[in-house]
Amino acid sequence: MIPEEKVREVADKLSIVEVVSEYLPLRRAGGNFLGLCPFHAEKTPSFNVNPAREIFHCFGCGAGGNAFSFVMKIEGVSFPEAVKLLAKKSGIEIEERQLTTAEKKSQDEHVQFRRINDLTTAYYRSVLLNGKEGEPAQQYLADRGVHASISDAYRLGFAPDRRDGLAKHLRNNGVDMESALKLGIIRKSDSGWYDLFRNRLIFPIRDLRGQVIAFAGRVLDASLPKYINSPESPLYHKSSVLFGIDMALPSIRTGNAVIIVEGYFDHLALYRAGVQNVVATCGTALTGTHAGMIKRHAERVYMLFDSDNAGKKATIRSMELFLEQRLPAYVISLPAGDDPDSFLSAHPTEAFNALRDKARPAFEYFVRSLLLETPPDSVDNKVRVIDDIMPRFRKIADSVERDLYEKEICRLLGITVHAFRKRMGGCKLLQQETSPAASRPIQAVDSIQDTLLALFLNYPDARAEIIRFGLETVFTDDYLELAGFLSAAPVDSDGSIKFDQQADSIEKPEQKMLFSRILVSDAYIAGIEWRAVLGQCIRSNEKKQVSSIKDIAARLAVADPGSDEYSLLLQQADSLRRRKSKL
Ligand code: CTP
Ligand code: MN
Repeated sequence: MIPEEKVREVADKLSIVEVVSEYLPLRRAGGNFLGLCPFHAEKTPSFNVNPAREIFHCFGCGAGGNAFSFVMKIEGVSFPEAVKLLAKKSGIEIEERQLTTAEKKSQDEHVQFRRINDLTTAYYRSVLLNGKEGEPAQQYLADRGVHASISDAYRLGFAPDRRDGLAKHLRNNGVDMESALKLGIIRKSDSGWYDLFRNRLIFPIRDLRGQVIAFAGRVLDASLPKYINSPESPLYHKSSVLFGIDMALPSIRTGNAVIIVEGYFDHLALYRAGVQNVVATCGTALTGTHAGMIKRHAERVYMLFDSDNAGKKATIRSMELFLEQRLPAYVISLPAGDDPDSFLSAHPTEAFNALRDKARPAFEYFVRSLLLETPPDSVDNKVRVIDDIMPRFRKIADSVERDLYEKEICRLLGITVHAFRKRMGGCKLLQQETSPAASRPIQAVDSIQDTLLALFLNYPDARAEIIRFGLETVFTDDYLELAGFLSAAPVDSDGSIKFDQQADSIEKPEQKMLFSRILVSDAYIAGIEWRAVLGQCIRSNEKKQVSSIKDIAARLAVADPGSDEYSLLLQQADSLRRRKSKL
């Protein structure tokens, strides 16, 4: 734990411009510094750093935050690690707060765990490389075309066909066996300690920073089970580990895309062929946590799963997770019967790249495979297809995309858009109640609310005035939530908000993005007559709301009074009227 005062001391000492400049060139542009965003590919700079606020924001990809967020994102590290990194740079000594006995114990144990995993990796590796016992595995790797440099990059090893080779090795190195037991790599019986892996090729599983956290072992022949994996442990949670992420990060950063595969050997085959932005799940289905991790590092994801039924299911399930994350997802299809290894053994990397370039949007893939399974040749089937599509369709974040798919689906099914929407109306309310965030499209920029929020952030008196009006009469959606959050934020003696500190505490990505965006683009309100601008904005807001009431009235006139859509519109009209009357 790093004490809060230390975090502040580090923050005060460093300048975000210096921090960012170590990674990319910046040039001055008005009150901001400008550069090419390191988090997505771009040719014209839209990455802004505001030195006065110690905030950055990219208009291209929406990344934003303070110096700590920048380092976390670019180095792929946790908050405490980012603080430590920056402390070192600014010459601040971080003596961590006195740990409690329990914390000290858990820290010592982690050091032990790391040492055990390092010893284990080295042991398996030396069995593979030195001596007779490793020969069958060496032969296996040679047969599969895995040369020394690749074996080295993965730190491959071999678990000998002995009951307790590793157990003995660990004990000889003074390891506390109970700790090794917690990692699951050795086990205990009445007759003593014995190894989990025997006669298996070993893939160490590493975290983002390259630390070994677990192991997977593959048989050298056709016996079953093909793989054995380390169990969950204090270091290893397979639902949040992506195999190969440490090797993939540099290449993910340049291309902003990730290819996700199912197997260790799929990963190896692609990496060996020079396709390095690849990660694999470790013998488990993709989870929301995985999807979130991928989203933190990339703008686009390609799924490359087996073309059998299980692979198809995995593709569709994963697509839903990526829709929820609003991460564009594509499906790479290999010829039937091929996996990445067999494909790349028979074809050059260019052939693979060509398939990647032809990857179909995951949603399109989903609709097509659904239609293959259930041809829309009867009313029953059509209804079944629509009902399958519906919950996923709703998760498409981008409204333009949703429109296009709607047309396409209707065309493929031979139904009218009206019929499609009508069928969908039934489930709409339910969906909105259960997951508003997932179904809400990306927040549109509202220039009036932008200005209002800029006033709110910069003029303490305007802030007080807006709070007096009632935040919900002035702001909506993310603007409203952000303003609500910030109205409780601590302020300086002159009433100003500590922007760079707040950047750490805003949790929702949409609001974080909104916050940093306003802070690098609100120079225009410096030194203005805030009262006049506030009045103007509130009047325009009001006009806009009147026109949306008109819009709703027009839709009410044509909606079926018994339908859910009708009652939803009524509710919206009501809440708008209430807001308006408060103004
Ligand atoms: N897997 C597992 N346990 C098994 C079988 C498979 O954990 N008993 C996981 C592994 O992560 C494996 C992935 O599922 O990498 C894909 O399985 P498979 O395609 O059978 O293995 P590959 O690694 O592709 O191995 P190979 O190319 O040698 O068949
Ligand atoms: Mn495979």
